[in-house]
Amino acid sequence: MASQQSVEPFDLVIFGGTGDLAVRKLLPALFHRFLDGQIPPNSRIVGVAREGLDDTGYRAQLREALVQICDAAKLDEFLQQVFYRALDARKDAGWDDFAALIKAEPEHVRVFYLSTSPELFVDLCGRLGQHGLNLGQSRVVLEKPIGHDLASANRINDAVGKVFSESQTFRIDHYLGKETVQNLLVLRFGNALFEPLWNSAHIDHVQISVAETVGVGHRAGYYEHAGALRDMVQNHMLQLLCMVAMEPPSSLAPDAVRDEKLKVLHSLKAIDAGNAAQLTVRGQYRAGVAEGDHVLGYQEELGGSKTGTETFVALKAEIANWRWAGVPFYLRTGKRMPDRVSEIVVTFKPVPHSIFDAGSGTLAQNRLVLRLQPDEGVKLWLTIKHPGPGGLRLRHVPLDMSFAEAFGVQQPDAYERLLLDVVRGNPTLFMRRDEVEAAWRWAGPILAAWAASGEAPRSYAAGSWGPSASVALIERDGRTWHDDNE
Ligand code: BG6
Repeated sequence: MASQQSVEPFDLVIFGGTGDLAVRKLLPALFHRFLDGQIPPNSRIVGVAREGLDDTGYRAQLREALVQICDAAKLDEFLQQVFYRALDARKDAGWDDFAALIKAEPEHVRVFYLSTSPELFVDLCGRLGQHGLNLGQSRVVLEKPIGHDLASANRINDAVGKVFSESQTFRIDHYLGKETVQNLLVLRFGNALFEPLWNSAHIDHVQISVAETVGVGHRAGYYEHAGALRDMVQNHMLQLLCMVAMEPPSSLAPDAVRDEKLKVLHSLKAIDAGNAAQLTVRGQYRAGVAEGDHVLGYQEELGGSKTGTETFVALKAEIANWRWAGVPFYLRTGKRMPDRVSEIVVTFKPVPHSIFDAGSGTLAQNRLVLRLQPDEGVKLWLTIKHPGPGGLRLRHVPLDMSFAEAFGVQQPDAYERLLLDVVRGNPTLFMRRDEVEAAWRWAGPILAAWAASGEAPRSYAAGSWGPSASVALIERDGRTWHDDNE
């Protein structure tokens, strides 16, 4: 039986309260925590946006959205703890009343979740500071992307830092809240088996793939200015890479873990104009068939405008340190792929010598596959003898542990854990300022190299695994992208 940590009464304010993230992720996550008794009865959740709604109108909007994805029982009870305030970050109206509402519960932990465009972070923090809402047990949560590049990230972090201290600032990367990512920590550091092999002497290469079937759809306005490198690689995928590659932290204390991740980011080899053409591939989907339907290409979704924004990236990263020298980390992410699958695949080196006849079959390399979604779980691919009489035949089969089957529980959404970590004041799974900066320092030269090359992203059909150059990127090294069905 899972034991639950208690939660102090809190007020959680979501700026961007009518937005996609709030409605699709944050409020369902809070509702699930409510069902598990983790939202103390006098806690308040306050949605803030510019739309002129009141509490009743907001609750009705949320009800309509939440019944589609959550169990409706108890929803109304939950919604009684939800409120709404119409505010504009750039206008004074309403801020005094809002401050009075929050200050009415001086003992509550206060969480200000900025789920808005990063341009508003500075104004919003300014307002919160001006009204003294940064005092006491206050925390601010910054959604990614934090800026557009290193300079804009610094501007945002400086401005936020004038109002909230670093220990009050929670830069969220929801991939760190995913069960399998936490399990990676436990697998690596809770078992004696893997760590002795976790280095360049035994690991051949690592693949990190995040493939989505969805297109950009109604998020095109945001996405067009971001692209896959800023949207997925600079944050989620680098964070996964850090979790795979970091040295054992001395404890799970927030800075112990974050110090180790930072060292990995600092050790990434530069990709710039000199090598980007060999080490990176970017693509953009055109019309095609995805999940059985004909779907538009990215440019058509944008109303036919010509754009060089990438919806797919594959790249080969390397970490220049003793543990990882010479071990490629292949990263791949894209929209409109044939399957939704996110996984980390660690491929071990082949055995040094085979004692088996050529007729026994090939000796495949061991693989450890950590599946983030769907069907979270861990598979360890081993070579065994095919059962039965006759000659000795080798088979490559997985030791397969699906978390849902093993534990019979639905895995909680990443935001459920992370939101409560903020309330509890535990920043272990959040990015420290220097991590965000180091990630931009690595990503910036790649973006600059692409811009300088003047080349358009390679086109790929929606519903395919990206441009063929992505296959060539890994096959040049005599390797292939992992396919679980092989
Ligand atoms: C977000 C990106 O951070 O992560 C989206 O902005 C992406 O473009 C999403 O779709 C993927 O998250 P998940 O949890 O569905 O894999």
